[in-house]
Amino acid sequence: MTVETPNRVIKQHLIDPEICIRCNTCEETCPIDAITHDSNNYVVDVDICNSCMACVPPCPTGAIDNWLRVVATDAYSLEDQFSWSELPTEQELPADAVEAPAGEAAEAPQGVAAAEDDVNAELEGLPSTAAGASIPPWSAAHPYINLYTHKNVATATVAGNYRLTDEDTDNAIHHIVLDFGELPFPVLEGQSIAIFPPGTDEQGRAYHARQYSIASPRDGERPNYNNLSLTVKRVTSDYDGKPVRGVCSNYLCDLQKGDKVKVIGPFGNTFLMPNLAHSNLIMICTGTGSAPMRAMTERCRRLTKNKAFNGKLMLFFGARTERELPYFGPLMNLPKDFIDINLALSRASDKPKRYVQDLIRERAAEVLDLLDDANTCIYVCGLKGMETGVIEALKDAVEGAGRNWPEVHAQLKSQGRLHFETY
Ligand code: FAD
Ligand code: A2P
Repeated sequence: MTVETPNRVIKQHLIDPEICIRCNTCEETCPIDAITHDSNNYVVDVDICNSCMACVPPCPTGAIDNWLRVVATDAYSLEDQFSWSELPTEQELPADAVEAPAGEAAEAPQGVAAAEDDVNAELEGLPSTAAGASIPPWSAAHPYINLYTHKNVATATVAGNYRLTDEDTDNAIHHIVLDFGELPFPVLEGQSIAIFPPGTDEQGRAYHARQYSIASPRDGERPNYNNLSLTVKRVTSDYDGKPVRGVCSNYLCDLQKGDKVKVIGPFGNTFLMPNLAHSNLIMICTGTGSAPMRAMTERCRRLTKNKAFNGKLMLFFGARTERELPYFGPLMNLPKDFIDINLALSRASDKPKRYVQDLIRERAAEVLDLLDDANTCIYVCGLKGMETGVIEALKDAVEGAGRNWPEVHAQLKSQGRLHFETY
C-alpha cells in the first residue's frame, strides 16, 4: 500500500469547461483512457493521468492545457469536474505543502517528441495512440490558429446558404458562405472553425461552440475575398437513429443571407496540404467529410490554372446516393486528367453497395504507386466508423504487394503524410 506524503503538491491536469468545444479529440487521443465526459463536461481522472501530454497538441482550443497546483489528497474528483461551469482558481497551499521533486509528473514528451514515441511504439508492435500523423507534411504552409477565442469572438456575416443535396432526400447538406469583412481571418485548407449557436442548454448555460471544417481554399470561397465556406449537415437524428434536432447544425442550415454568426478559430495545425507543385493527394471522405477535400481540390485547381500545380489527385468519396453526395455536379465537371474520382455509393438502387474502403481495395495498385512517392499525402475525413475500414484497406493494399504495413504506416505518420479528421 502506498502511503500518501502529507500535503504533497501535484499539478492537476484539468480541462477548462468555458473554452472546451466538446470535440472529443482529447478523449480519443489519451493513450491511457484518463479522459472521459458526461453531457456537461470533459474531465481528467487524476488517478489515471500521467501528464504524458499526448492530448495537449491536438486540442483545437487549448482548453486541455490547464494545470492547477493542489494538495494530492484534495485533488478535484471527476464529480467535481462534471459539475463545473468554469475552472476554479488555484487555492493557497498550506505552509507545510511539499512540492513534487523536479521532473515528477510535470516533465513529459511534447509535440513532435510525442509523435516520435508514437512511431516507435508502432514499429515495436505496441499500440499507437492514433491512426494518423500528429505533425503536418514538411512543406505545409504555416497556419494561424486560435486567433479568435471565447474571450475574443469573431463575427461573420452570412453571404450565402444553399442546399447541396436533392430536396427530396432525407439528407440536408448545406453550403454556407461566411464573410469576415475587414476582420483578419486567415485560414488554410484542412483547418476548421467553431460556431456558437445562440441560446442556452437545459442547465441555462450558453451552448458550447461546434466545430466545422472549412470547405474553401485559403484565398477565399470567392477568390481574394475575405470569406470562407462550410459544408453542414442538418442533424435530425442521433447516432442511434432517434429523432433529435441538432442545435448548431439546424441553426446554421436555417441562416439567411445577412445574418451574423459568432465564430472562433481557426483550428488545426496538422491536417494541412503540402505546399509543393508536384505533391499528390489521396483524399478519402464520406458526406460532409468532403469539406476539406473540396478546399484542397479547389486550391489545386486554382494553382493548375497558373501552372503552379502538376501533382496527382485521387478522391474516394462515399455517400448514400449521387443525389445525397455534396458537390456532385461541380465534382463531375472536373477534368478526368486533373482528378481521379471514385464514388462509393451505398444505397444506389442500380448499383451494389459500396464503401470507400471497397474502392481503395479495387484501386490498390494505383494507391500503392502513389504511396511509394514521398510527395503523396493521404487525408481521411468524415464518419468516425470509416477510420478502421480505411486503415484495413490501406493495410491490405500494402501487404498485397508483400510489404510491411506497420513500417509503411509508421513512416506515413512520422512524415506527416497520413491524416484523419473523423467525427
Ligand atoms: P447536437 O445538438 O450537438 O447533437 C444532437 C444529437 O445528435 C446528439 O445526440 C449527438 O450525439 C448527435 N449527433 C451529433 N453530431 C451528429 C452527426 N454528425 N450525425 C448524427 N448525429 C449527431 N459537421 C458538419 O456538418 N460539417 C463539417 O464539416 C463538420 N466538421 C467537423 C470537424 C470536426 C473536427 C468535428 C469534431 C466535428 C465536425 N462536424 C461537422 C460535426 C459538428 O461539429 C457537430 O457535431 C454537428 O453539426 C452536430 O451538432 P449539433 O449542434 O447540430 O448537434
Ligand atoms: P450507409 O448507407 O451504410 O449509411 P451519411 O450519409 O450517413 O453521412 O454517410 C455517408 C456514407 O458513408 C454512406 O454511404 C454510408 O453508408 C457510409 N458509411 C457508413 N458507415 C461507414 C463505414 N463504417 N465506413 C465507410 N463508409 C461508411
